[in-house]
Amino acid sequence: MTMLDIALSDGAGPRYKQIADQLGTLIENGTLSANTRLPTHRALADQLGVTVGTITRAYAEAERRGLVEARVGAGTYVCSQNEQHWTFDTPDPEKLECHFGYNVPPLLDRADMLSRAMQRLTANPAKLNQLMLYQLPEGIMQHRQVVADWLTSQGVNVEADRLLFSSGAQHATQMALNAFCRGGDTLLVEKYTYPGLISLARQHQITLKPVEMDEEGIIPEALDTACKMYQPRLIYSMPTLQNPTTGTMSLERRQAILDVCRKHNLYLIEDEVNGLLPATRPEPLVNLDPEQVIHIGAFSKCLAPGLRVGYIHVPKRLYSQMANTLQNHSWMTSPLLTGITTELIQAGDADRVLLQIRSEMKERLAITQDILGDYDLRVSETCFHVWLTLPDHLRLGEFVASASKEGISLKSAELFVPPGGAVPPAIRLSVSSPTNRDVLKKGLLKIRELLEQEPMGGFAL
Ligand SMILES: Cc1ncc(COP(=O)(O)O)c(C=O)c1O
Repeated sequence: MTMLDIALSDGAGPRYKQIADQLGTLIENGTLSANTRLPTHRALADQLGVTVGTITRAYAEAERRGLVEARVGAGTYVCSQNEQHWTFDTPDPEKLECHFGYNVPPLLDRADMLSRAMQRLTANPAKLNQLMLYQLPEGIMQHRQVVADWLTSQGVNVEADRLLFSSGAQHATQMALNAFCRGGDTLLVEKYTYPGLISLARQHQITLKPVEMDEEGIIPEALDTACKMYQPRLIYSMPTLQNPTTGTMSLERRQAILDVCRKHNLYLIEDEVNGLLPATRPEPLVNLDPEQVIHIGAFSKCLAPGLRVGYIHVPKRLYSQMANTLQNHSWMTSPLLTGITTELIQAGDADRVLLQIRSEMKERLAITQDILGDYDLRVSETCFHVWLTLPDHLRLGEFVASASKEGISLKSAELFVPPGGAVPPAIRLSVSSPTNRDVLKKGLLKIRELLEQEPMGGFAL
């Protein structure tokens, strides 16, 4: 059995923490390798002259930090390196690996806040028991109220009795299409749009018709023409930090878009999954006309995508249809997850994380401007992604393939173009995604190197 090189001292904090800290050091410096079995609680207690309870607490703390794992009936083991990472974006130290592929919030350690939220929940058995039961399809009213109040504090004027929980924004969008569209319907979308929507439309046999856009987003006159031409069922738009072009509509543009919706008596799905990221932005469409707008959002970008908690706010007359659709689909969104989310909001953690994300994104976008600023780059404050149009001499397919060969993943414009549309020579880089700023810098420098490549001579027939 391994003897651990751990020394405890008086006045250096609780003993269980000292033990967990030193276990962390031994694992980090390689003294304890993956899958090493730790001494039994009794053996380590005897070695260190502490109680078995202190060791139990120390191991639990080390487990909470992702350093060790308790295997039932077999003891406590050091986790493998991979298990200690809390993201799929695990850099390989042997080669540059930089993931610009997904719009995920920058990596933050959320373990503490989550653990505190769960402790608060478990300290209240009556509340916990309630979370284990069937609830209304739209979610527990108190949870909806907490979320509605928080969203209102963030400038999104939603009402709890029009809000329904979903398992993220993707699910909310799917439910909206299920509830309000049929196969063969047409949906108007921005000329470049969110790939998840393209995929949903394909599955539901809904035709997407692209509407011309400028740097703010959909152009109202083009929308008006498309409404006349295609008689769509709905409009789908991302007015804030558009994915992929990063644009945000001005207030005037928003009002003009809503005028077109009212003129044609059309509902608009406002996908605001990125809407809370900027510290200030124009009023969401739902504030301007809640009877015309189906507002979708989630905690995926501003708190944690793994929570899988999103929401949909619908005009009054659509509410029961939406609740019925949710019930048909999965009865309800897990109350346990909406319970954890409300705990995080009430403890101030949601606010804190959002501020952290904003400040990290400011740094990351400044780095990106520094390195790629000479290129045709669209960047927007706190936006997770940037949109880069390639120089004329480069071909999109070849560029994406060369980046991939160098260990860099990114998204080609192809993914954002509805079927039949022309593909611009552009790429989306999610600069929020690389594990840390160093990896981000290395990845961006590699991209600049690829952009500077001379065009290939010769041609093939
Ligand atoms: C515009 C847009 N809508 C919806 C989603 C899906 O969000 P969620 O993870 O909450 O399902 C994404 C995810 O990247 C997105 O970019």
